Amino acid sequence: MSANKRIGILTSGGDCAGLNAVIRAAVHRAAHYGWEVVGIEDGTQGLLSRPVRYITLDTNRVDCAMMRQGGTILGTTNKGDPFAYPMADGSRKDRSMEIIGGLRELGVDSLIGIGGDGSMAILRKLADVGGLKLIGIPKTIDNDLGITEMSVGFDTAVAVATEALDRLQPTAASHDRVMVLEVMGRDAGHIALSAGIAGGADVILLPELPWSVAGIADKIRRVQADGRNFALVVVSEAAKTMEGGTAKQEFADGQKRYGGIGNYVGHLIAEATGAETRVTVLGHVQRGCPPGHNDRVVASAFGVAAVDLLAAGKSDRLVAWSNRRVIDIPIADAIATYAAVDLDGTLMRTARGLGIYLGDEPRGG
Ligand code: F6P
Repeated sequence: MSANKRIGILTSGGDCAGLNAVIRAAVHRAAHYGWEVVGIEDGTQGLLSRPVRYITLDTNRVDCAMMRQGGTILGTTNKGDPFAYPMADGSRKDRSMEIIGGLRELGVDSLIGIGGDGSMAILRKLADVGGLKLIGIPKTIDNDLGITEMSVGFDTAVAVATEALDRLQPTAASHDRVMVLEVMGRDAGHIALSAGIAGGADVILLPELPWSVAGIADKIRRVQADGRNFALVVVSEAAKTMEGGTAKQEFADGQKRYGGIGNYVGHLIAEATGAETRVTVLGHVQRGCPPGHNDRVVASAFGVAAVDLLAAGKSDRLVAWSNRRVIDIPIADAIATYAAVDLDGTLMRTARGLGIYLGDEPRGG
């Protein structure tokens, strides 16, 4: 155990529920070792600013209210790779040494980075350049990091999408409608699959599987033939169009992001079945809400474990959830394993067993 050590912690990439629970746990565990914790603001952006932007975190600052608080008290960013930082004149600049300088100014030689695979790759490079000790904590509502069964934020996002289905079902039944719910998840359909099962969906469309209008229409007709007057359809934001492309929308910043597949599918369903169809796009409410209990628990376990790893002199490791416990693995291995939905996995078998249309019938079937 080393006394008077100062460790840094930052959140990077898109926010999600449970980030504050990680920060809180790390601060409590650091206090056990007699270490100070500085929370760096807005990911690596805080380290590019002069003076460096940070918050000193102690156990008084991280009370139990943080367990219930969505977002991240530190702020975050998913822009600006410091190795190719976009400058005002349109050029790119390597600003990594400014970040290392910022950490040195703070007297920090050990960093806990809470992020997804993109953030982890950048933090690893920074740790390498700056001779830092780095421990990573996986967070992403997409749950697409292969090595961990659970990423912070996923469980809460699924709960929000499930609750949306809970709220759509009564209004669907009242109006004899088909309700389409578009959910996040980027290129993996984990949120759609879990929420679809939990919310009793009739159709779940995933990025991992092609689907057909005829297949959806057939499922809806069978629902109607069974005497039910409504249907629930969950669509992953990156589910493919009939042509095999993805639906993207251009935003004011010129960037194209996933969006629109729910409306696309809704139109096709209305056309093919004549059913009155409405579409809900869930968006960022899947990220910004108070964390559910599973995310609070996993986040706390990860925060404690990350500090313990630093105390054990480890570096370049990512904590992960496996078989009911926290393990740690090299960050490089963790970010090399992407997890799409396993088409033969338990949840797919469950969904098929429930009679949910998943698009895995032959085209036109
Ligand atoms: O990766 C997390 C995620 O919420 C995706 O599910 C979604 O596609 C994307 O981020 C949205 O990003 P932004 O916050 O930049 O709109």
